[in-house]
Amino acid sequence: MSNSDAGMMSASSGDRQSFQRRHGIIGRSTEIREVVDTIMQVAPTDITVLVTGESGTGKEVIAKAIHGASKRASKKFIPVNCGAIPEGILESELFGHEKGSFTGAIETRKGYFELADEGTIFLDEIGDTPISTQVKLLRVLESGEFMRVGSPEPRRSDVRVIAASNKNLDEEVRTRRFRQDLFFRLRSVNIRIPPLRNRRGDISLLVEEFMRTLGGDASRDILITDDGMAALIRHEWPGNVRELKNVIESMIILERGNVIDEEVIAKYLQIMEEPEYGRSLPMHLGIAPEQAERELLFRMLYEIRNDVRELRELISERSSHSPLSLPAGQEREERPTIEFEDMTLRGMEEQLIAHTLRRFQGNRRLAAESLNISERTLYRKIKDYGL
Ligand SMILES: Nc1ncnc2c1ncn2[C@@H]1O[C@H](COP(=O)(O)OP(=O)(O)OP(=O)(O)O)[C@@H](O)[C@H]1O
Ligand SMILES: [Mg+2]
Repeated sequence: MSNSDAGMMSASSGDRQSFQRRHGIIGRSTEIREVVDTIMQVAPTDITVLVTGESGTGKEVIAKAIHGASKRASKKFIPVNCGAIPEGILESELFGHEKGSFTGAIETRKGYFELADEGTIFLDEIGDTPISTQVKLLRVLESGEFMRVGSPEPRRSDVRVIAASNKNLDEEVRTRRFRQDLFFRLRSVNIRIPPLRNRRGDISLLVEEFMRTLGGDASRDILITDDGMAALIRHEWPGNVRELKNVIESMIILERGNVIDEEVIAKYLQIMEEPEYGRSLPMHLGIAPEQAERELLFRMLYEIRNDVRELRELISERSSHSPLSLPAGQEREERPTIEFEDMTLRGMEEQLIAHTLRRFQGNRRLAAESLNISERTLYRKIKDYGL
């Protein structure tokens, strides 16, 4: 045991374990241990940290742990999704604006950099930040100074910045979508979280923890057989820990039996990857119609739950930061009017996908994210429906 702790930089395994427990970071692979060691080293400082990794690898978990273990822990942690906020609004969200600086700016408003004073800002999807805003981010990182939109007066705030991206920022720099100077400034500490398939040693631990914490009343005495666990370990997990968590959650809720073997696992892995199960479920999976119906209902509930969560987030975002006024020239998007009568599930799906693509100006990654399906599935559906 102690050989892995020999390096000057690594924490003792006891310290590391209690740190992980405190911050909800599950994992025991060498890769996760290295990530945790780095967090423990950088958390007490004010250094800017860039967290990279595929979707669902735990970038936000890590960012929160860095904040939570810093001297700023009792102050605000403000996550900003730089990819989801429309270009014209992002700058005023980050730095604030003066009354009258653009049509609809009916009052002066502080931006996140002012609101997060003494705390931490988490710039998520930093790779999607428009170039013009990147210049201003570089300035605030280098000098602590920024200006509200429409004001020439430089302001300062004491904010620690953690940024995250699931894009390859090297590539973004090469293709000039991301400024090299900002990239160099951000990556002074770069925590790379490997995809789950490259640290399969974490899978059984994650499974056990999620069974325990997500189960609630439903967790009963569910037993995963050895071949069931082996199937989970073998899976490629394109959606990483998020996908694993979803699979375990649906299994706990849906599965009636207490023994989860390879066959049961295969069924749930398929459900998660195949959102069209409504059409194909009974033959496809060889299960009873009653079970198929339960699964269909569950999936619908699951999607509704996600929609409700998104709505809730949207409402709380707007009300904590209202009124949200759009700069001149930006129309509020039109809402879909869909006639539900006489419509098939497929028809509804097609309409929803078309609408979502329009909403994100054809950006498939954002559309897929908003629909809570993989990009791969979205591509397939676009082809399917000839969109
Ligand atoms: N090491 C971990 N221990 C415990 N939970 C984890 C871990 N990694 C990820 N999770 C869980 O997986 C889910 C996804 O994590 P998170 O939101 O941090 O991923 P992300 O990298 O930010 O994904 P995205 O790029 O899609 O935003 C969350 O529910 C989180 O709690
Ligand atoms: Mg995230």
